[in-house]
Amino acid sequence: MTRVQAARTQVAIIGSGPSGLLLAQMLDRAGIASVVLERRSRDYVLGRVRAGVIEQGSVEILRRAGVAERMLREGLRHEGVEIAADERRYRIDFGVASASLTVYGQTELTKDLMEARDASGGSPQFEAEDVALIGVDTTKPRVIYGREGVRHALDCDFIAGCDGFHGVSRQSIPAGVLKTHERVYPFGWLGVLADTPPISRELVYASHERGFALCSMRSAARSRCYVQCDLDADVAQWSDERFWDELAARLPAELASRVVRAPTIEKSVAPLRSFVAEPLRYGRLFLAGDAAHIVPPTGAKGLNLAIRDVDQLAAALVAHYAEGRDGLLDEYSASALRRIWRAERFSAWLTSVLHRFPERTSFDRGMQLAELENLTSSTAARTAFVEAYTGLLP
Ligand code: FAD
Ligand code: PHB
Repeated sequence: MTRVQAARTQVAIIGSGPSGLLLAQMLDRAGIASVVLERRSRDYVLGRVRAGVIEQGSVEILRRAGVAERMLREGLRHEGVEIAADERRYRIDFGVASASLTVYGQTELTKDLMEARDASGGSPQFEAEDVALIGVDTTKPRVIYGREGVRHALDCDFIAGCDGFHGVSRQSIPAGVLKTHERVYPFGWLGVLADTPPISRELVYASHERGFALCSMRSAARSRCYVQCDLDADVAQWSDERFWDELAARLPAELASRVVRAPTIEKSVAPLRSFVAEPLRYGRLFLAGDAAHIVPPTGAKGLNLAIRDVDQLAAALVAHYAEGRDGLLDEYSASALRRIWRAERFSAWLTSVLHRFPERTSFDRGMQLAELENLTSSTAARTAFVEAYTGLLP
């Protein structure tokens, strides 16, 4: 690669997951130019199966961004959730806090966001190699990368690090400035997608002696289910039969009898982690989404936090360009971190209540069951759960 192609934009966005695509969409609607650089191919990005629960507040943000039309049509509205522990079943009605959730796959949301980018003529630059951020602590940051055999230099005013946990953006903050806080869990989730009807109209989270299980869905005919597994679990060792057997073994008998075993379309293992980076701003670089934080998926918060970060960052950039006000940019890190830590708290708590931890004692199990009893018997506890789970708090 010898030739260097130079270009300029206002905001360089690293990563075309939900964070990067949504930020580009929001900036575009405010007349702010951006370029999205993505390491992977379009097919890879569109093929990833991940989260599925969208909070009411996120739906509102996506609606404002003009990308919620299909979600509002095809998404499933949920007004409660079930938690099971061995044979006991608890239903938590979101009505205690007048809340609801929408179940709509991240894969579908990514497709909607990508279509909006394509329609605006701002499709991501896929398969961008060796992305490097230069001069982020100056007023003239630059992103360099390789693509189709050509070296590129992209000058910009700001860089948005939307490149997920393993991205390059967070690593561009000097070690002496960046602080990280982390808890790694001694287990993972094995998830499958299958064309089989959900066992219930609502999500079922199950805490069992054999480990955690979750029955979620994508439609009336498509299920998304997970079982807690060892960190080194090998998908090849998990036949469809073994997966469905293990799922059924962790559910109350009546729910287990409703599991309809179908061939799986996708099967993958995800490790569980709690992680927070700070600050979320270094000079002209801003982190958003999984680049800034990771929550274990138990609370269904990862995607929703990403959407909130981006909403806040977009508003701050709009205030900068439209009104010359930088107050929101200055506040971004501290204000986002307050929300992030609250979501971390809830996700870590729900993870600790529902999973089987190695070396757990019978006392620990008693504590888990008492937490669940408390949720059903105390209106205050139930309301607090619904506020956190459905993302009612700002
Ligand atoms: P990502 O979706 O990770 O997107 C980042 C993008 O940046 C990717 O496309 C990546 O290819 C790109 N990128 C990375 N490095 C570079 C680079 N150097 N240069 C250019 N581009 C780069 N949340 C839930 O609520 N429920 C779940 O069940 C759930 N399951 C998950 C399973 C897995 C395996 C993972 C990783 C996450 C899961 N999450 C889940 C979390 C949720 O999916 C994320 O919070 C959400 O995807 C965050 O969006 P993002 O855009 O910030 O990051
Ligand atoms: C999902 O549908 O993929 C899903 C739902 C709830 C969670 C995590 C994942 O907590």
